Amino acid sequence: MLPILLLLIPVLSPALAWIPVEDWESGNVTASVGDSGQCVCHVYVPDTTFPADRVQHMQQVSKDLILEMEIQMDKMVSYEGKLEIYLEELIGLTDRVAMLQSSSNKYIKLDFELLRNELREFDTLVSQLRDSINSSSPLFDSLYTEIHNMTLIVNQLETYDKSNLDMIRIEFAKLQKKLEECQKDQEFFKPDIGNCNHTGIMNISKPMVVQMNAHLSADYQYGGWGKDSKPVQGYESMFFYGAYRNSHVYDFYFYSDYKKLILRSAFKHHSLSYGWQGTGNNYIVHRNTVYYQNNSPFSMTKLNLTSSEYDHKLIPAASQKYSYRYADNQNLDFAADENGLWVMYASEESMGNIVLAKLDEESFSIAGVWNTSAFKQLAGNAFMACGVMYATRPVDLNTEEIFYSLDTKTREEKQLNIRFQKFQEKYTNLDYNPTEQKLYMYNNGYYVSYNVRFNSE
Ligand SMILES: *[C@@H]1O[C@H](CO)[C@@H](O)[C@H](O)[C@H]1NC(C)=O
Ligand SMILES: *[C@@H]1O[C@H](CO)[C@@H](O)[C@H](O)[C@H]1NC(C)=O
Ligand SMILES: *[C@@H]1O[C@H](CO)[C@@H](O)[C@H](O)[C@H]1NC(C)=O
Ligand SMILES: *[C@@H]1O[C@H](CO)[C@@H](O)[C@H](O)[C@H]1NC(C)=O
Ligand SMILES: *[C@@H]1O[C@H](CO)[C@@H](O)[C@H](O)[C@H]1NC(C)=O
Ligand SMILES: *[C@@H]1O[C@H](CO)[C@@H](O)[C@H](O)[C@H]1NC(C)=O
Ligand SMILES: *[C@@H]1O[C@H](CO)[C@@H](O)[C@H](O)[C@H]1NC(C)=O
Repeated sequence: MLPILLLLIPVLSPALAWIPVEDWESGNVTASVGDSGQCVCHVYVPDTTFPADRVQHMQQVSKDLILEMEIQMDKMVSYEGKLEIYLEELIGLTDRVAMLQSSSNKYIKLDFELLRNELREFDTLVSQLRDSINSSSPLFDSLYTEIHNMTLIVNQLETYDKSNLDMIRIEFAKLQKKLEECQKDQEFFKPDIGNCNHTGIMNISKPMVVQMNAHLSADYQYGGWGKDSKPVQGYESMFFYGAYRNSHVYDFYFYSDYKKLILRSAFKHHSLSYGWQGTGNNYIVHRNTVYYQNNSPFSMTKLNLTSSEYDHKLIPAASQKYSYRYADNQNLDFAADENGLWVMYASEESMGNIVLAKLDEESFSIAGVWNTSAFKQLAGNAFMACGVMYATRPVDLNTEEIFYSLDTKTREEKQLNIRFQKFQEKYTNLDYNPTEQKLYMYNNGYYVSYNVRFNSE
């Protein structure tokens, strides 16, 4: 027996619990669940003669896998996440090419030059993509290794069956197309991290839906997710998530990076201590500290994850009467942008209009206040980007609109109509992350994110 194919598919969502184990009824297959919840599938094929029927079968199954991957692809949020999938597909291809190499004894002439060209193009695409996002991710490095390994294998393949390789060629074309799409989107929404020399938001990308929440529960509609907006050393890629069946906030999960979030493999689960539980889900994580709303007493609260210390401060003017339109108890909405920390609330004095306050991080107190003319109960949510407050409202079930902005520098207010798609109608958390120029939304139990494009004249 020769172990030939090892498929490692992370279980991304209930929709991905599709691995068709029963399709393999004729083979020697074992499936198991790995340490971090991924599905591990071992396939053993006898190494005596060329197993054409099994290869064909595996190709069909892998076609199905790739088709399903394509559907799931649309839901992936970050380029890293997308590339991870390409990498898995490539690993699958490598395995199949290796299998052909080790088992065929036919001598059929093939268009290897074509295959090599495609590999070269793929190589170029990956390097262009890497340049365009200016990143030295280990993922890119392994993509390169994969491509180069494939090239080596193809060079040794001159003797094998054309039909099998045609299949691989088609898959290369698909991969290439996906990378091109990835690249196009990246160019249109090319981030210029930290640059606020622009006149505000111009455009919001299509929603990128990652997956259902880590509880895999459609009931957990009240929650939030995102990335630390000013990470401390050692936690540069930390993501957070928290949710529950109602607007109470009991706990948070922390993931060392995006991949761990996708695999639902948290490195820390923090239950809020009795008396420090929160509400409203308009929290953020900034400098390894969670900022959220507490109701007893009604105050802004922070949990420093480095020291595990809590602290709270009253905001006397803030009222508990006004929430955003999609959920109750959203009285204090925290935000972080290139300029630091902010909190938004409404007051009796403001007659329900959103009041924006700048927070001083060291003293955990309000350092400045701006009145707005955005009525909180009509707004879906609000967030800050480059010192400008943006408020959203629904247009229809699947469309939201940034309808209002206030520039804290000039105190200029604007009516806007920057529309963007929602995955589902309601959401409980919407925040901008200045480290990536992305918006994170907790959309009816789903993780959704958007790229933000700014107007630069
Ligand atoms: C599994 O492999 C063994 C050895 O090649 C073979 O005898 C047996 O029939 C296979 N089982 C199935 C279900 O194909
Ligand atoms: C890439 O990023 C580095 C630092 O992060 C910067 O010094 C360099 O100029 C960037 N290159 C491009 C082409 O943007
Ligand atoms: C690529 O090939 C090298 C050398 O044969 C091998 O050490 C490495 O494990 C391969 N990498 C992958 C990801 O298959
Ligand atoms: C800001 O952008 C404008 C127009 O692109 C440019 O003329 C100006 O020099 C920039 N200012 C800074 C500080 O980069
Ligand atoms: C972004 O704005 C441009 C120009 O206004 C428009 O053509 C395009 O459809 C917008 N894209 C998105 C994703 O909204
Ligand atoms: C969190 O605690 C650490 C260790 O005590 C401290 O260095 C850091 O400044 C604190 N951060 C905030 C935001 O309070
Ligand atoms: C905000 O509005 C309140 C009530 O109308 C007013 O008392 C206060 O001075 C205003 N604050 C600012 C900073 O404009």
